[in-house]
Amino acid sequence: ADQCVLTGNWTNDLGSNMTIGKLSSNGEFAGTYHTAVTTTKKEIKISPLVGTQHNNTQPTFGFTVNWNFTDSTTVFTGQCFVDEHGKETLKTMWLLRSHADSIDDDWKATRVGTDTFTRLRKRWE
Ligand code: BTN
Repeated sequence: ADQCVLTGNWTNDLGSNMTIGKLSSNGEFAGTYHTAVTTTKKEIKISPLVGTQHNNTQPTFGFTVNWNFTDSTTVFTGQCFVDEHGKETLKTMWLLRSHADSIDDDWKATRVGTDTFTRLRKRWE
């Protein structure tokens, strides 16, 4: 299979978009995340992410989004797959940790889900 690299623009099943920058030599990356949805009533803002990926053909990776419009955090982990036509898909699972006002509310503060990302075609392609 072709190399699957995370660098670039991606969109998921919810309509969220993310942009991942160049990977460093040790597989670290940074980027931005524009979520289409939120559990809050706040105005959505583009938020920063940082993560790591392995340097192989269909790599596993993880990244954390530090939401800057609310006090929650999401961690994603997944794998980048390339099919025989070169189409790349990111299969991920995430945990969304919301702020709990007290330890008694801890039990309801974490959501879990899956997201599938495909590459956003650039307009000039
Ligand atoms: C929040 O509502 O507390 C912050 C935004 C959370 C958005 C979640 S993260 C997992 C899922 N995938 C997305 O693209 N957006 C939602």
